[in-house]
Amino acid sequence: MPRRGALPVGTLLVLLQLAFVPSPLAGCLLDPCLEVTPNTTFRCTGLNISGVPDGVPNTTQNLDLSFSNLKSLGSNYFASVPELQLLDLSRCHLHTIEDNSFMDLHRLFTLILTANSLQHLGKAAFYGLTSLKKLVLVETNRTSLSELPIGHLHTLQELNLGHNSITSLKLPEYFANMTSLRHLSFFSNKITSISRGDLDALREGNRLNLTLVLSLNNIKSIEPGAFAGIQLAELALRSAFENYKMQTCLQGLAGLQVSRLILGEFDDSERLQDFERGILNGLCQVQMEEFVLICSSGAEDDTDNLFHCAGNASTIRLVDLGIEEIPQVPAWSKVKQLECKKCSFEDVPAQKLSLFKELRVLRITQNHVLKNFEQEFEGLSDLEVIDLSENRLTFSRCCSPQFLNCPNLKHLNLSFNSEIRLTGDFTNVKNLLYLDLQHTTLFGPGSYPVFLSLQRLIYLDISHTKTEVKSQCTFCGLNSLQVLKMAGNSFENNKLANNFKNLSHLHILDISSCKLEHVDQSTFDALSELKELNISNNKLLTFSPAVYQPLQALRVLDFSRNQLTVLLDSAREILPDSLVLLDISQNLFDCSCVYLDFLEWIKERQELLQNKELMLCHAPSYMANVSLPSFDLSSCHVNTAKVASSVVVLLCVVVLLLLIYKYYFQLYYFMVLLSGCKHSAERGDTYDAFVIHSSKDQEWVTKELVEPLEGGAPPFHLCLYYRDFLPGVPIVTNIIQEGFLSSRNVIAVISADFLESKWCSFEFDIAQSWQLVEGKTGIIMIVLGDVDKALLRQRLGLSRYLRRNTYLEWKDKEINKHIFWRQLTGVLLKDKNWNHEEVNLM
Ligand SMILES: *[C@@H]1O[C@H](CO)[C@@H](O)[C@H](O)[C@H]1NC(C)=O
Ligand SMILES: *[C@@H]1O[C@H](CO)[C@@H](O)[C@H](O)[C@H]1NC(C)=O
Ligand SMILES: *[C@@H]1O[C@H](CO)[C@@H](O)[C@H](O)[C@H]1NC(C)=O
Ligand SMILES: *[C@@H]1O[C@H](CO)[C@@H](O)[C@H](O)[C@H]1NC(C)=O
Ligand SMILES: *[C@@H]1O[C@H](CO)[C@@H](O)[C@H](O)[C@H]1NC(C)=O
Ligand SMILES: *[C@@H]1O[C@H](CO)[C@@H](O)[C@H](O)[C@H]1NC(C)=O
Ligand SMILES: *[C@@H]1O[C@H](CO)[C@@H](O)[C@H](O)[C@H]1NC(C)=O
Ligand SMILES: *[C@@H]1O[C@H](CO)[C@@H](O)[C@H](O)[C@H]1NC(C)=O
Ligand SMILES: *[C@@H]1O[C@H](CO)[C@@H](O)[C@H](O)[C@H]1NC(C)=O
Ligand SMILES: *[C@@H]1O[C@H](CO)[C@@H](O)[C@H](O)[C@H]1NC(C)=O
Ligand SMILES: *[C@@H]1O[C@H](CO)[C@@H](O)[C@H](O)[C@H]1NC(C)=O
Repeated sequence: MPRRGALPVGTLLVLLQLAFVPSPLAGCLLDPCLEVTPNTTFRCTGLNISGVPDGVPNTTQNLDLSFSNLKSLGSNYFASVPELQLLDLSRCHLHTIEDNSFMDLHRLFTLILTANSLQHLGKAAFYGLTSLKKLVLVETNRTSLSELPIGHLHTLQELNLGHNSITSLKLPEYFANMTSLRHLSFFSNKITSISRGDLDALREGNRLNLTLVLSLNNIKSIEPGAFAGIQLAELALRSAFENYKMQTCLQGLAGLQVSRLILGEFDDSERLQDFERGILNGLCQVQMEEFVLICSSGAEDDTDNLFHCAGNASTIRLVDLGIEEIPQVPAWSKVKQLECKKCSFEDVPAQKLSLFKELRVLRITQNHVLKNFEQEFEGLSDLEVIDLSENRLTFSRCCSPQFLNCPNLKHLNLSFNSEIRLTGDFTNVKNLLYLDLQHTTLFGPGSYPVFLSLQRLIYLDISHTKTEVKSQCTFCGLNSLQVLKMAGNSFENNKLANNFKNLSHLHILDISSCKLEHVDQSTFDALSELKELNISNNKLLTFSPAVYQPLQALRVLDFSRNQLTVLLDSAREILPDSLVLLDISQNLFDCSCVYLDFLEWIKERQELLQNKELMLCHAPSYMANVSLPSFDLSSCHVNTAKVASSVVVLLCVVVLLLLIYKYYFQLYYFMVLLSGCKHSAERGDTYDAFVIHSSKDQEWVTKELVEPLEGGAPPFHLCLYYRDFLPGVPIVTNIIQEGFLSSRNVIAVISADFLESKWCSFEFDIAQSWQLVEGKTGIIMIVLGDVDKALLRQRLGLSRYLRRNTYLEWKDKEINKHIFWRQLTGVLLKDKNWNHEEVNLM
């Protein structure tokens, strides 16, 4: 067993915690009101409070306090919200409303007190409500009108007393002063009888437009004369009478003048009202314009005199009656409008209906057994509108034979039926203006020009009729057509070709959901007056400017749910200035930055675009489902910059690589120069001279240079690439390390071959640069035989004349050879470091 003391301690802790909650947070937790529109509309429902909640400012116009625990209202209860226009106090557990509770609510139009079991209502409870138009006292435990303190509410237009326990319809005198009252409802009360004088207050004053609702009462008797001289806009008496009391009660309506009388039952509360002969006879004494009979199961059996007393009404509506035949039509009938909704005819009762000679509008709808249309309407010269929609009609030879001498027929609605075969014969109804065949399977249209004779038709709806447009002349003859709706059909090859040739007055064209894949160039050429085009939900890949160019009057274009990737600049340009609404949502947009101008356009034209939230990127895949209007354009700018810079870097790298490839030697040589600078101190003297020569001159070098120099006295030590270069080391390294760095001099054997060889030129260039860097080594140039002097001058340049350089020409004559040797050994002997061996040899 839980200890009894435990609970209060826990509660105390919670309360303590609440007390120490920081005050802003507490305000948040306890803020009971929802601000529906800023400063004016507040919803504070389900509160346990008294008084107007603190969060409601004095600017509030609409206040919903329903489901709160107010219990009672005291005087000036709403003083803090003087601007109130609507106050909802439904289910507030109110039992008391004291005097002056609503004082000074001068602007209050609507007061709702539904579902409060009011026990005490002060005589001055509603004082101050000088503008009140609507007072709802539904389910407030009212038992009579006399104690209702509303006599001063002269501005009242609607008083709803539904779901109370009012037993008498005796209207207090003050009703005579409520000259604005338009709607008075006693729906679901306990009125059992209506007596003479009860409605006297309505007789005074010239009230012409009051709707009086007495449905769902339990009326046993209406005293004859109770309604005499009364004028009403509407009297509703559904399920209003006690069983079997309807006939006598209706007699009591004698003398009533009413625009619309509603009799019948409610679906869920059917009472027995046998339509025995004469049950509606009382209505013969009632002057009415419209008679409505709803949901009377009893009417199935004996309905013959249903119209007997309604014949003078101009409108009759029979709803959910289950009658299988049209009752007898009185000869004097003045019925102009007749509607049978949810009746049980199997055949369109055209013959009998033709007796309503003044009929202008006929509607037979939602009749689930109505299949046949074999009879003919005849001689209804006033008939303008026939609505046979939402039945199960199946018939052929539509639509001329069914209408004999009905020359004024303008509207024909055969929509939502089963199957209709059109022959193209409209001779009897050639004045038709509106023809609606939507959602009915059609045979004829599409294959051949069935509408040829409907030259005046301005509205044609063949949406969802399983029509396949094959004939180019499908719409031929419809020269006045302004509206063509044909959604949910198909075109041959899923292609719009020249199908709308002569429809030059067309204003609205709906070809949505037609599986279209292609639109031919000249399709819309004639449609210069078109204002609305709905081509949504097809499979179009492009919006080709040439196709849509002729539509210069367009105001609304719905291109949603196609497979468009982008609206190109050229397409956007041909959109006419008149366009106010463009829907391109749910296409397969490509949000690549390539289409940046399109994305920018989307941002600029937000007011034009419809269903923006459904405009999502489809490609590239990492952008999927990104909303187009909120697409971050800057991401594109950054990307272009990135792309540009990386391209530039890449180019640089390529150029660099190319340069390196091309000037490889020069670069290496440059490196060597640098390292040469660094290492010049380490220069060795292994060789007296490094010989650069062309391989073709090797024989001369060996015979005339190496043998005499190395074998002479003193012996000189030469560096020769074919003999002294280290194997396995790159040639360039050898040239530098072995050749230049280890030799004191450089001997260049210059021949025609030397001048042609790249390697020789390279080595010679290095030698020259070396000389510049080192500043001391000389180059000994030995020119062999016939060398192109011009080329030689160009190649050797100034080096020939530099002081440290030696320029020798080799000639085969002995005397010249002698001079040559003297000069050569002279140069080589300069600065030679003699080692001991060599000195001894001397
Ligand atoms: C609501 O009222 C506050 C103060 O009274 C004011 O500053 C604000 O502009 C008002 N807001 C609107 C939408 O009227
Ligand atoms: C409402 O508040 C009162 C005190 O003001 C309290 O006694 C009552 O229990 C509360 N009712 C509910 C349902 O919270
Ligand atoms: C509403 O309250 C403000 C102060 O909060 C005051 O200045 C203003 O006059 C009040 N308006 C009305 C209509 O009472
Ligand atoms: C309705 O009012 C009567 C008194 O007029 C009272 O006896 C009865 O309890 C009330 N009904 C409800 C549901 O409050
Ligand atoms: C109707 O209004 C008039 C003046 O406005 C007044 O004299 C008369 O007493 C009112 N009648 C009732 C029944 O309230
Ligand atoms: C009568 O009231 C209804 C609404 O209740 C309104 O539509 C109609 O125009 C009114 N007729 C006249 C003649 O005032
Ligand atoms: C119909 O109106 C005519 C006069 O217009 C009248 O003689 C006849 O009694 C009325 N019939 C019914 C059923 O109200
Ligand atoms: C034809 O009837 C259907 C169904 O009742 C309705 O939706 C449609 O608007 C009607 N057509 C015309 C042209 O009134
Ligand atoms: C095209 O329409 C015009 C009138 O708008 C009409 O004179 C002409 O005969 C029509 N041509 C065709 C082929 O229907
Ligand atoms: C175009 O047709 C589709 C249905 O096919 C519809 O949902 C859409 O609202 C229509 N667009 C316009 C602008 O009326
Ligand atoms: C995009 O949204 C659709 C539907 O909401 C969803 O099926 C799809 O997986 C989403 N794609 C991505 C990449 O989020």
